[in-house]
Amino acid sequence: MRELSLNILDIAQNSVKAEASKVEIGILAENNLLTIYVSDNGKGMTKEFLASVTDPFTTTRTTRKVGMGIPLFKMAAESTGGSFSIESEVGKGTKTTASFVIDSIDRMPLGNVAETLTSLIMTSPQIDFKLIYRVDDREFIFDTAEFKTLLEGIPIESAEIINYLKEYLDDNIKIVNGGMDL
Ligand SMILES: Nc1ncnc2c1ncn2[C@@H]1O[C@H](COP(=O)(O)OP(=O)(O)OP(=O)(O)O)[C@@H](O)[C@H]1O
Ligand SMILES: [Mg+2]
Repeated sequence: MRELSLNILDIAQNSVKAEASKVEIGILAENNLLTIYVSDNGKGMTKEFLASVTDPFTTTRTTRKVGMGIPLFKMAAESTGGSFSIESEVGKGTKTTASFVIDSIDRMPLGNVAETLTSLIMTSPQIDFKLIYRVDDREFIFDTAEFKTLLEGIPIESAEIINYLKEYLDDNIKIVNGGMDL
């Protein structure tokens, strides 16, 4: 994977598979550290399962025997000198957090967060996605639950809305970046 936004997509798809109704994605950059988390209110994991979940051979997939989403995200973070953690509780949800040393030569660029978010919205329009995007003291928050109330019945996954959202998210992310992409 060459962009962290693709890792984020993968981790958020785990939340979708875990039947979450709410998924929050945090992207926070400060003091040379980029922290990315995905938290959900899905079905969660048992302690035993959680203990082995960073192992590629841990998966509840039935189509193949390896699950790479979590191991790849962990490796991407740790290779920069950053860290990785995952907390989960059965019936409550899961929070996956990875921190990246921003100026490490091994850090992948963040990539297209707007694209990641809109593809999640398109494939799971019924789920509430919240993005918290922060660089230093500049912050942008987008919540599909709030946005849907403005749509007055127009489906959020319709092409016009998705195209609008891509631009809207991109513009706001650029403003928060302040001229330097992450
Ligand atoms: N947010 C979550 N809530 C509940 N279970 C999860 C969550 N994230 C991961 N899991 C469990 O951990 C397993 C491993 O996840 P991982 O993303 O590493 O691989 P995968 O999703 O199985 O396969 P891949 O990501 O390669 O498509 C999943 O199969 C799932 O059982
Ligand atoms: Mg996965």
